[in-house]
Amino acid sequence: MTVPVPEGGSFLSRRGTVSSNLSPSSGESVESLVAHNATHTMLLTVKSAVAEDEQAVVALWRACDLVASYNDPVADFRFAKAGPCSDVLVAVDDAGEAAGSVMVGHDGHRGWLYYVAARPTSRNKGVGRRMVQAAENWLRQRGIVKVQLLVRETNTNVVSFYEHLGFEVAPRVVMSRWLEKTS
Ligand SMILES: CC(C)(COP(=O)(O)OP(=O)(O)OC[C@H]1O[C@@H](n2cnc3c(N)ncnc32)[C@H](O)[C@@H]1OP(=O)(O)O)[C@@H](O)C(=O)NCCC(=O)NCCS
Repeated sequence: MTVPVPEGGSFLSRRGTVSSNLSPSSGESVESLVAHNATHTMLLTVKSAVAEDEQAVVALWRACDLVASYNDPVADFRFAKAGPCSDVLVAVDDAGEAAGSVMVGHDGHRGWLYYVAARPTSRNKGVGRRMVQAAENWLRQRGIVKVQLLVRETNTNVVSFYEHLGFEVAPRVVMSRWLEKTS
């Protein structure tokens, strides 16, 4: 089955699956072209990450300042990859480097996005949008009709990015409690 790549936005796109020299993916991959600079486009392959991608993906999360002191990104990566209700999607550029990521999952009721990231050197070129779309497609394919995410209060300038993609700020109070302290 081919995952449709939505048309439109600031990037070129095309439908397709790929067989490439990337790490073999457990899921299917989708290619799309995003702007690289004013004159060039960058080929992005969005795929389900495999174990060999772990280091690069975690490095990307760190480079994007997404790793909180109380989270273990390696454990997050492995946990998401281990279960049927979650995944880590990674966008690999034509040089084989990780340019974007998203961790996606659902609890049977709602879908959730984490670690939405575009490499600092590839911002405002459509990578972040592509990652959100890939995660939304992943959820749609599993019958999930609503997607949510949390934005840290120190990162509120990203709210306008999500609003630009059609998200709304939800008037909810999020409550939490540690069941076990991790550090
Ligand atoms: C947020 C992030 C993923 C956006 O990625 P990106 O690749 O720069 O975004 P895109 O180029 O795909 O942007 C898509 C659209 O949103 C717009 N946009 C990007 N950032 C925006 C922002 N902060 N506010 C408003 N609009 C924004 C772009 O101009 C673009 O608009 P267009 O499609 O109409 O031209 C990236 O800045 C990032 O990795 N930030 C650090 C990690 C982070 O904070 N993640 C979110 C955790 S909740």
